[in-house]
Amino acid sequence: MRPEDILKFSLADFTYNDSETVLDPPRDFETWTSDPRIGVAMSFFEQPLQQAPTPRTTLDHRLSGGNREMINLTSYNYLGLSTHPEVVQAAIDALQTYGVGASGAAMLSGTFDQHEKFAAELAEFKGRDACMLYPSGYAGNLGAIQALMQRGDVLVIDSKCHRSVVDGVKLSGARLVSFEHNDAQSLDAMLERHKDSRRMVVVEGVYSMDGDLADLPPIAEVCEHHGVPLYVDEAHSTLVFGDTGKGVVEHFDVEDKVGVDFGTLSKSFGGIGGFVCADENVIRYMKCYASPFQFSCALPPAVVAAMRKSLEVATRDDSLRQKLWANVERFRTNLEALNLDLGESASQVIPIIVGSDGQELIQLAMEAQQRGLYLQPIDFPAVEAHARRFRISVSAQLTDADIDEACNIIEDVIARPTGAVGAA
Ligand SMILES: Cc1ncc(COP(=O)(O)O)c(C=O)c1O
Repeated sequence: MRPEDILKFSLADFTYNDSETVLDPPRDFETWTSDPRIGVAMSFFEQPLQQAPTPRTTLDHRLSGGNREMINLTSYNYLGLSTHPEVVQAAIDALQTYGVGASGAAMLSGTFDQHEKFAAELAEFKGRDACMLYPSGYAGNLGAIQALMQRGDVLVIDSKCHRSVVDGVKLSGARLVSFEHNDAQSLDAMLERHKDSRRMVVVEGVYSMDGDLADLPPIAEVCEHHGVPLYVDEAHSTLVFGDTGKGVVEHFDVEDKVGVDFGTLSKSFGGIGGFVCADENVIRYMKCYASPFQFSCALPPAVVAAMRKSLEVATRDDSLRQKLWANVERFRTNLEALNLDLGESASQVIPIIVGSDGQELIQLAMEAQQRGLYLQPIDFPAVEAHARRFRISVSAQLTDADIDEACNIIEDVIARPTGAVGAA
């Protein structure tokens, strides 16, 4: 690889390894990652937080050489539940009773009373027959899709669906096809093309890189027309959308048209774990065939106890959601005044799309972080090469002052240099 070609490559280029042994990573990958320009880009990854993922937190900021307080716009702790006193206390109390780990897979020794109660509470909250828990959201999508689909089936997914959905299909042996993002006509054509196979459709409630919502009414109608079940990944939308926080399925009033309702506990719930709600017989079947459920340790009971409290706190009234939406509104208004490209975002996930120049993205990210704004660059191949971006995760815990300060930094380091607003 010639030095002048380094910037033409991305992480998408090194998945094939032609080395003689599998423990020798591709030589080009080594050359590429040892280039200082790539080193800087890579140093944005895995910077360790020294405190809870709250809006003001301390980061071991290697780019400026040490711990510093930052305004954090990167965590999925949308409702601030990860540090809510009642949630933390529930975890502490449960730790005393249950210890640290579940010490077993759910089918054998890893199910505690906490798991059973929480699964029932989640099913009731979502208005479904039954629910099962998974060790993570990733494991949940992987397991549910692997258990439901098989060789000869076709999984039809929105082109922007999460990697866990794609990996689930690989594990199942089913065929994967995608339809154009949020395009019901494209979905219709895809379902028609594969009408001789058993099919299922997967969409997300809120798309994680764009913050736009699934256009559920026409999508659900197309699925109904073809008699194909619809699976909705509400990772970013549970506890955020809908009158009672069930998600976009409730927001669009299509609950009776959805067969599988997926959620994660790592975002608005503030913890970790995945859950899948469906009819009782579907859950019973899935439990027997979902490998990540069967062959991985169950969630720690103390985490489950804390998540039960998160559900209670988030649903006993809508004050946290109202605060979140007020913050989203303030953020959006400020960013729109800066004339930034926010894509189609209609949620608490707000991208700032800066374009195709990867070097510029890294430079802007560096300046933002040096000004104390923890905003991460999202580069190709995580997003399309022409739409590199920053992604803001708005939290209910942000104060007006946090939002205004963050927007001032964004104005100085992103809006002005990219020409969105006039230079000073
Ligand atoms: C849409 C979507 N589904 C599933 C997951 C996986 O969830 P977890 O991070 O809880 O494993 C994510 C994670 O970011 C996601 O964005």
